[in-house]
Amino acid sequence: MINSVVPFSHKDTPALIEKLLPAQRLSIEVFKERKAGPGQTLTVLGSYWKGRKPLIMNKACILGALLPVTDDLKRDLEIFEMLMAMDAESLVVRAGRVKPAKIVEKISFHNIYEFFIVEPEGLLPEESPFRLDDYPTEGGKLARIRWRDEIPEKERRQIEANVLSDLSYKELVDKALRPEACDFEELHSHIWDEVNAHLGTDASSMPQIIEQLGIMRFGHNPRIADTFSGSGQIPFEAARLGCDVSASDLSPVACMLTWGGLAVVGGTPDMISSLQAEQSRIVEEVKAEIRRLKIDIDGNGWEAKSFIYCFEVRCPQTGWLVPLLASRVLSLGRSVIAELKPDPANKRYDIVVRSGVTPEELHAATAGTLRSDGRGQDPYVHHVVDGTEYRTKISTLRGDYRSVDKSTGNGLRLWGKTDFMPQPDDIFQERLYAVQWMRRKPGSARDEFEIRSVGADDLKREQIAEDYLKEHFQDWQEKGWLPEMVIEKGVETERLYRERGWTHWHHLFPPRHLLLLGLLRQKVTTASSAVMFSRILDYTSKLCQWTTSRAGSTGGEGGKRTGGASDNPSHVFYNQALNVFFNYGCRSSSQVLDLFEKNLKPSPVTGKWAVLNQCSYEIDFSNDIYITDPPYGDAVKYEEILEFFIAWMRKNPPPEFAGWTWDSRRALAIKGEDEDFRRGMVAAYKRMAEQMPDNGLQIIMFTHQSGNIWADMANIVWAAGLQVTAAWYIVTETESAHREGSYVKGTVLLVLRKRDGSHRTSRTDLAWEIQEEVEKQVQTLTGLNQKTRDMYRDENLFSDADLQMAGYAAALRVLTMYAVIDGQDMATEAVRPRVKGQKTFVDELIGFAVGVANQALVPPGISKGQWDKLQPVERFYLKMLEMEAKGAKSLDNYQNFAKAFKVKNFKVLMASEKANSARLKSASEFGKNEMTGDAESANTALRSILYALMELEKELEKEVDSDEVLAHLSYNLPNYFNQRDTVVEVSNFLAKHLDALRPAEASAARVLSTLVQNQKWG
Ligand SMILES: C[S@@+](CC[C@H](N)C(=O)[O-])C[C@H]1O[C@@H](n2cnc3c(N)ncnc32)[C@H](O)[C@@H]1O
Repeated sequence: MINSVVPFSHKDTPALIEKLLPAQRLSIEVFKERKAGPGQTLTVLGSYWKGRKPLIMNKACILGALLPVTDDLKRDLEIFEMLMAMDAESLVVRAGRVKPAKIVEKISFHNIYEFFIVEPEGLLPEESPFRLDDYPTEGGKLARIRWRDEIPEKERRQIEANVLSDLSYKELVDKALRPEACDFEELHSHIWDEVNAHLGTDASSMPQIIEQLGIMRFGHNPRIADTFSGSGQIPFEAARLGCDVSASDLSPVACMLTWGGLAVVGGTPDMISSLQAEQSRIVEEVKAEIRRLKIDIDGNGWEAKSFIYCFEVRCPQTGWLVPLLASRVLSLGRSVIAELKPDPANKRYDIVVRSGVTPEELHAATAGTLRSDGRGQDPYVHHVVDGTEYRTKISTLRGDYRSVDKSTGNGLRLWGKTDFMPQPDDIFQERLYAVQWMRRKPGSARDEFEIRSVGADDLKREQIAEDYLKEHFQDWQEKGWLPEMVIEKGVETERLYRERGWTHWHHLFPPRHLLLLGLLRQKVTTASSAVMFSRILDYTSKLCQWTTSRAGSTGGEGGKRTGGASDNPSHVFYNQALNVFFNYGCRSSSQVLDLFEKNLKPSPVTGKWAVLNQCSYEIDFSNDIYITDPPYGDAVKYEEILEFFIAWMRKNPPPEFAGWTWDSRRALAIKGEDEDFRRGMVAAYKRMAEQMPDNGLQIIMFTHQSGNIWADMANIVWAAGLQVTAAWYIVTETESAHREGSYVKGTVLLVLRKRDGSHRTSRTDLAWEIQEEVEKQVQTLTGLNQKTRDMYRDENLFSDADLQMAGYAAALRVLTMYAVIDGQDMATEAVRPRVKGQKTFVDELIGFAVGVANQALVPPGISKGQWDKLQPVERFYLKMLEMEAKGAKSLDNYQNFAKAFKVKNFKVLMASEKANSARLKSASEFGKNEMTGDAESANTALRSILYALMELEKELEKEVDSDEVLAHLSYNLPNYFNQRDTVVEVSNFLAKHLDALRPAEASAARVLSTLVQNQKWG
């Protein structure tokens, strides 16, 4: 232990995250991490995992939970940013060092020679800035300029940071590497003196500072737990920082990924190379067997890349067997299509692949035999025999029915345990119809590709694969090398029965993949190879749709590419569902095995760690800090979709995973949003609170979606014996992730402590207390915005959304501090079942608290009295306009404030709903809309004012007919006479905030205000 660090000296000091968190900057860092896509550190182990919590945010939570608050909040923030590598000097390293030549061009020095050595000596002037090009040698060469050795590193970084000072934080981060991509020692080399001086520590590395902070708070290296560990993002970051970590999850697949993060990616370079040697050995052995079978080569130097299959059905009207192809295009980049050649004798179609077709032919091929008359319409099979067009709905082919008792079903045969192919009488047949081949281009280091029709040799190779599989099938199933697990019906998995008749997990895989995976699985005996095996499962099965895209396109037929043209089977978990297709691509052995052999970049973890397969309400380990991301209202049905992987690991898992329950234990999973969900959450958080010291801390992450969220969370917190101390909002989803809905999602970080004692209060006292606390909170943060002006230049440390969140937290902080309110025991109240449509005591309290928090955000320029009179939609518009005037454009602000102000449909107020360039409609964009009927803005002062502004703007060129405008205003606004003050105040507000945004509308607002004030009556 280090002498200067006194155990428990910060035992009861509030943690930094309870007072501040630079949420705006952190959101920018999160965006950066997300943009790295598959380059994100742990994604390499399984991009199938949806909803990873960004490592940088996790790091902020861990540091924020350990760092103490001092009486200098600004300095606390600076130190936090240094440890996060978000300070200006770290950004210099992240963005790539600025060369002295560039420095003298930008920065004013009295005498550059105090800082730099110039060769040839004296060639450059003493005073900068100047351009080096202006002072060449006689021979026309430029001077060489370098730092003087005695200039300390810290000072160099500060000077370099000045060169970058005109860039916004976002622009800087765009240029920069993620902190984790840098050499930590170098990155942090300038911070330790300042960090130690501020914290009284004696550290020169991250694990050391973590240990010392842990000792000061808890008496030992901090113990951090995540009991909903999922892909392991939180435990991994904690262990990488040097904390001791317990990670647990109900799902063994989540445990496996968490284990993979900690042991594989977090392993030492030596461990990684031995894993890679093992992988190469396994791949070589499997490849040898595939080579022996000769099922992936054409005998003429070409090797298969993908096999392309489609379903086939017998048309009930013609008796023809028709391939089900939504599109006949096989490659957009290479203009390859499949043509159907009728074979009347056998009532079927030959499928002929043609390459290099004309653009017209390619276009014509986009219409296949599987069609639909629009979204949500039943797809149907379409084909033409002897000039007659036949259409049959897929639902008809399947024989869908609904019985009198309302149960539904269809005529698909349910596949049996030993089936791995359709039987001849099945409604859906499957057929190989094209093969994509590849070979090294003669005389080149690149490959060339061809997609060809299926010939007799291909069918022979298919047969070999099927026969081989048939021979080993039962034995492999018994040994656990192939799945034999029944698909348990659920919301997501039911469709596999209904749409395909598949009842066991292996039915999802084509014979070729069963063969390959069976060969591979028998060699997967170690835990690390099991992680990689699961990773490749995502690239196998019939759930991999064939996709093709043109070079440079961003969409294409399901393919999402921005680079060259691509023709590939997609992967299974491109979204979070188990989607089935009538047309799928099956990657060849070499393609799948290449993925198994993925190169890993080590990112060693230094803390001790353990991964447990436990239900969160049954954990039996205790920890200082719990950081969790529970499945709150989660769209991902982890407990169902992960069975896709469980089926393969269930029998004979490697020793490290053998003690885990290889079942998804759906009944124990926390899911949904109803009573069961709350009960599960309460049980989990209660257990964690019990397993935490009195000065322990919790951070719960959840996406901000449902309107009930605050009530839900307050209930859970209350019932679990916890208390809210802070809340922060971080934007965690990138724009592209939400291309379709353009809905930006963020994550709320809710900070919690154990509730202390059994304080009592009454509702009347609460009202005052909440009001005071919220106002104090908002003032503190606005004050910090002022204090950090020099650090943040023209950017604010906190945005309005942060203030709002902090306001909620302040309200909840007061509420959840009390065990008894108006004589009611809140822990009991919180778990009282809800009656639909009825508000509970807690709901009312939360509603009140949230209302107070929202009120604290009255925009300057509107008096509190006037604000109270406005409708939600008016408050929303004015608040957002104020934010727009400050340059805010992010859609999630609008979403959050609409929720906060209880605006039902804010979209009608929006001129743009783009994620990062959203804006409200102007007066003229509203025109005459949203004035009457059900519109939330109907009959409001704001709407009538905007209408008047539109009229005034139109008349701006001509003499304003003020009487007419005022007449319309008094007609549009009921009780106009009594609302004149409101009209004047709102118009003045609009005039001020529109000045920079829409000057013409701003002058119209000024005119209106004057007109109303000067209006003569009677
Ligand atoms: C939102 S995810 C966590 C994601 C994780 N933070 C990440 O970054 O990947 C929620 C996790 O809770 C797990 N879970 C659901 N019910 C559980 C329970 N009763 N006990 C433990 N884990 C549970 C799910 O298996 C899932 O892995």
